[in-house]
Amino acid sequence: MATGAGFVCALPFASSVLHATSATPIVLTAGKGTAPLAVGIKGAKPTNIWGYNGSSPGPVLRCRAGEKLAVRLINKLDQPTTLHWHGVRIENAMDGVPGLTQKAVMPGESFDYEFTAPDAGTYWYHTHNRTWEQLARGMYGLLIVEERDKPAFDTDIALAIDDWRLGPDGQIEEKSFGSRHDWAHGGRMGNWLTVNGRSNPAIKIKRGDRVRLRLVNTANARIFKIALGGEKVHIIALDGRPIKPQLLSDGHIELAPAQRADIAFIATGAPGTNMPLMEVSYRKPYAFAHIEYEEGTPFDGKRVLPELELGSIALDLRAAKKYDLVMAGGAMGNMMQTRHKGQMMDMRELISNGKMWALNGIAGDLDTPMFDVPKGQVVIVNMTNETMWPHAMHIHGHHFKVISRNNKSIANSPWRDTVLMQRREKVEIAFAADNPGKWLFHCHMVEHTAGGMATWFNVKA
Ligand code: C2O
Ligand code: CU
Repeated sequence: MATGAGFVCALPFASSVLHATSATPIVLTAGKGTAPLAVGIKGAKPTNIWGYNGSSPGPVLRCRAGEKLAVRLINKLDQPTTLHWHGVRIENAMDGVPGLTQKAVMPGESFDYEFTAPDAGTYWYHTHNRTWEQLARGMYGLLIVEERDKPAFDTDIALAIDDWRLGPDGQIEEKSFGSRHDWAHGGRMGNWLTVNGRSNPAIKIKRGDRVRLRLVNTANARIFKIALGGEKVHIIALDGRPIKPQLLSDGHIELAPAQRADIAFIATGAPGTNMPLMEVSYRKPYAFAHIEYEEGTPFDGKRVLPELELGSIALDLRAAKKYDLVMAGGAMGNMMQTRHKGQMMDMRELISNGKMWALNGIAGDLDTPMFDVPKGQVVIVNMTNETMWPHAMHIHGHHFKVISRNNKSIANSPWRDTVLMQRREKVEIAFAADNPGKWLFHCHMVEHTAGGMATWFNVKA
């Protein structure tokens, strides 16, 4: 069968795909629904979720770089909510952070998001209110910004990888929401892994196809380590930004919460065979999805993978301003006291206020920015993780480069919007603060965000 006829969006098991091409806004209704997370496997009924248009994940939104995207969020939940467009260089007013860039959308109300997605790549949207609960209940979806000139992949599939905490009945375990133990440790860890809301789905791929898989970690707190055997896989983009293709060989891809990796390969498997995608954090690899090879044109050894256009990699650090960010707190962190609501509090008092983490000695107060810079200022943030836990540090509205790790400098690292730091690690990041507005800067293990690991900075127009 002929392949190469352009772009196939093969997502047989996913929720709907909405193309943002018309002038009428896409409507995303936040509300309750069900999802077949565990159907058939646990003998379970569909899981009650909160999602968009009745499903979790919500619809896949696709638009082209430079196009306007108009989305009306209607809130049918009985909690306030917002939409955040993770990783997009967006106008500040559309960034979806309640209390910083907009008022939360109250039950029964709606909000119109309208923005241009300037850069092609793999993104996702998610709630940014009570994220520790709303995200865990399913309030996210994928946003794919297509290249203006589509690279010639035959198959392009986006996979949202999630970690749910389900009870024996296949329903979301509710009694552990807000657990101070989870918040002070690694966050809410699940026990049920899904891809696009299904357990171990089949991803059908034709033999000979040039394949792009977009992997997205949508979990609250879990770090995934993903391996694929049997194909020559290249990583071609990270956090939505193309990189110089990097051979994965025997290794794995580490994805912290909110991180993305696009991978590419030519499908060589024989029709009727399978290739598992594996989570390899533990001694026993766990297959969480599998590629099912179908009839196609066998690979002739000549076809090559299309290349993504690399953006600019330059960042001039000579006039950079330097800021320190000390991350403290959490279980076994020995944080004695920290400032919250303008007062010094000891750990007991903090915990009774739902806080147990601090950035620069402040637990999650957003009344003053961490720094204030004019537009275009290059900024270096020197982050020190004094805690005993890993953290996935994320900056809104900008991409940055890791310029050093544990005092070892790194040349030409890829652009990212989220960086994983191990316990006790030091990481320096640099970026051009060129997007005016108030931008959140937080750990994307969302229980840590809620527990105090959030600050922001201001870029003056
Ligand atoms: Cu995925 Cu504050 O972001
Ligand atoms: Cu964290």
